Amino acid sequence: MICNNLSVNDCGHLTFAGMDTVDLAKKYGTPLMLLDEGKIREKMSIYREAMKKYFTDDSMPLYASKALSFKYIYKIAKSENIGIDCVSAGEIYTAVQAGFPMEKAYFHGNSKTEDEIRFAIENNVGHFVCDSIEEVSVVDEIARSMGVVQKVLLRITPGIDPHTHKKISTGSVDSKFGVAIETGQAYELVEKTLALANIQLDGYHCHIGSQIFEYDPFCDAAKIMIKFIADTNKMFGFTAKTLNLGGGMGVRYTEADPEIDYKANIKGIADVISQLCAEYGLDMPRILMEPGRSIVADSGLTLYTAGYLKEITGLKNYISIDGGMTDNPRFTLYQSPYTVLLANRMNEEYDYKCTIAGRCCESGDIIQEDVLLPRPQRNDTIAVLTTGAYNYAMSSHYNKVPKPCVVMIHNKEDFVVIKRETYADMIANEV
Ligand code: LLP
Repeated sequence: MICNNLSVNDCGHLTFAGMDTVDLAKKYGTPLMLLDEGKIREKMSIYREAMKKYFTDDSMPLYASKALSFKYIYKIAKSENIGIDCVSAGEIYTAVQAGFPMEKAYFHGNSKTEDEIRFAIENNVGHFVCDSIEEVSVVDEIARSMGVVQKVLLRITPGIDPHTHKKISTGSVDSKFGVAIETGQAYELVEKTLALANIQLDGYHCHIGSQIFEYDPFCDAAKIMIKFIADTNKMFGFTAKTLNLGGGMGVRYTEADPEIDYKANIKGIADVISQLCAEYGLDMPRILMEPGRSIVADSGLTLYTAGYLKEITGLKNYISIDGGMTDNPRFTLYQSPYTVLLANRMNEEYDYKCTIAGRCCESGDIIQEDVLLPRPQRNDTIAVLTTGAYNYAMSSHYNKVPKPCVVMIHNKEDFVVIKRETYADMIANEV
């Protein structure tokens, strides 16, 4: 199986984190997202330990909570002693409600509103990652009005093409994120930021994209960023203490995806950085990374109940499910591959080609096209693997479909971490 938290039990049922998924589907209803706390902690600790070992002692991962933001996961991040990346006041609010130590939070975004900036400062967010010169000036003004000096990283665009889907690639010069080195504007940004009285510049950030398998693009970005540190040191006498390399390491959605050794990747990147720092005569900066997908994707799985089988003679077979693009829009948006299994009949022949059709009034509402399953029947339990990242986080109420229940599994115990939405919840704000 694509992840070691999956297996098949004596009843021929799929197990996840040691639990029978068919039993859990019965207990909680479907659509149901299951999360494996042990796997989330394992991933966080791989990053934490490897970064401490291969970079400086104070280097650490920041969980990119846009991948999946809810109170309990910030509690896990707190107890794993890592930081977080937040991208809205909503994520900051959720982390605060969870009791997360906000000095370890980094506030991202290319369009932070003034209210959000104030809210983040009021809640003692440790760092802002500023995306433009205009933004950094607004943060300076607001910080002054609130009588604080705000620590800041500047988001720099290194000009890297990480060979991933265009919609999740962010490091190229014409990206809407960050300020480009290539145009010379990144240098201007540093100079102007250093002159702002209520901003303390701590260093730089870059993020090249998401779902990246090779580690070379990260090394290429690191090379450009270390040179940028050396250049801005020469130009302005400013030594960047922190370099944040962003997120983006890939995960296996299907057997076709390679396995990734995150620890080895981190070591490889660290080797390049140490060598470069030696060449430029710099101390190694504190390194931050922002893994989102690689922390939660394979820590999650979604269960659906099969609806109707539609066999279009000679053309296509569809099996409908009780969820779809409302809880997982990733095939609709990016044609993302997923592994689909028939959780209640794992040992039968996987020889029937069918398309998993979501329930929305939209032809594009597909979870996966032409997968092989045992011929599905009504009320079978369909499992879609590796759904922990950017599924619930991107869910919607399209067609007024309530959001699913999310259940955490830890040490063979299951408990609700996000309740299933009711129809009443969905109209709570309607007048
Ligand atoms: N840091 C920054 C600044 C980011 O923009 C992102 C992701 C991350 C970290 C985390 O990247 P990760 O480790 O998860 O690859 N909705 C898309 C993914 C969008 C990624 C947005 N930024 C998807 O479903 O594939």
